[in-house]
Amino acid sequence: MKFFVDTAEIDAIAELNDLGMVDGVTTNPSLIKKSGRDIIEVTKEICDLVEGPVSAEVTATDAATMIAEGRKLVEIAENIAVKVPLTWDGLKACKALSDDGHMVNVTLCFSANQALLAAKAGATFISPFIGRLDDINLDGMDLIADIRNIYDNYGFETQILAASIRSVNHVLESARIGADVMTAPPAVIKSMINHPLTDKGLDAFLKDIAAADIKIL
Ligand code: E4P
Repeated sequence: MKFFVDTAEIDAIAELNDLGMVDGVTTNPSLIKKSGRDIIEVTKEICDLVEGPVSAEVTATDAATMIAEGRKLVEIAENIAVKVPLTWDGLKACKALSDDGHMVNVTLCFSANQALLAAKAGATFISPFIGRLDDINLDGMDLIADIRNIYDNYGFETQILAASIRSVNHVLESARIGADVMTAPPAVIKSMINHPLTDKGLDAFLKDIAAADIKIL
């Protein structure tokens, strides 16, 4: 499973990237706003840091302007994936940009039918939003499983990018189902390491090391 980091915070991306945990980055207008940075400037900095796909989202809602924005975004770096919303205009932009040979991430996916349309429009990535479905008492994991099943039935190459991940269980379930990629905030990725038995076991070992004065160096 590929790990994308869902943030526009350079320091957080760099920390995980140094550990080999970053296969790509996703941003969205809310994350750009949170960073307080200029979209072009911060996206370029992320692309310089990370080798894998970096999703940068268009701001327009009509296809012609989305395509123009997408063409400007891909000038930033070769690893840009243009992010477009799952609307008819977004799908038109997806088709045009993917026909041009660019990576496209179709975002704000909340149904398997939407994911089917995005795959047919040539999306490189489809982003089903797990957490936002859970927020309205629907099961985001059912959506990931449905899309996996449908894409496998017909051999679609669009990669399932599990998004709106809010917990380590979302990561685990997405991996079990076979999402190709997951994107999560740095804090979620970092908390995947936590286990009370690891802490307890290490504590016991440290006590024995001290009691027996075990030394290696
Ligand atoms: C990623 O591409 C999405 O923009 C992001 O995961 C949304 O997450 P949220 O629902 O927690 O804002």
